[in-house]
Amino acid sequence: MKKLIKISAILSGALFLAALTVTPVSAQTNQKPADQKAIPADVMKVFDKSCAACHKDPGMKFAQGPFNISTWDNYSPEKQAAKAKTVCNFATKGKMPPKKYQANNPGAVPTKDDIKILCDWAATLNPVSK
Ligand code: HEC
Repeated sequence: MKKLIKISAILSGALFLAALTVTPVSAQTNQKPADQKAIPADVMKVFDKSCAACHKDPGMKFAQGPFNISTWDNYSPEKQAAKAKTVCNFATKGKMPPKKYQANNPGAVPTKDDIKILCDWAATLNPVSK
């Protein structure tokens, strides 16, 4: 009987520990600071088509350093606003995706409408700049 109590104590202790390690992770993903914004679905669609090969996991380390779609939600609001502005800027000028990638992947070249989606989104994160 003593042994049984001991085992159940260990078991519930393990469950308690498991609960402890699981809770913070879900809390982290569900509770973002109010002005930190996840990427909207229409923007993500353009990213997936034109940018994800390099800027989203498993992607390219070199490209994910300066701009990582997979860790976007952890960027500060200031960083999100600045990056989104660069995203709009680069896409508009045809600097991203890189020229060679565009030549080899014509289907990934963002259309005018795609670029407008990116820039409209950037403008919502940079209310003063527009
Ligand atoms: C073939 C891979 C590739 C694709 C596809 C690609 N990029 Fe990049 N991108 C890079 C690399 C490599 C860098 C880092 C070196 C550089 O700045 O040239 C980069 C850098 C960037 C930066 C960082 C600028 C900075 O310094 O803050 C932004 C923003 C960016 N890309 C946006 C985009 C957007 C938007 C798309 C899709 C429309 C895209 N990229 C598609 C490879 C890619």
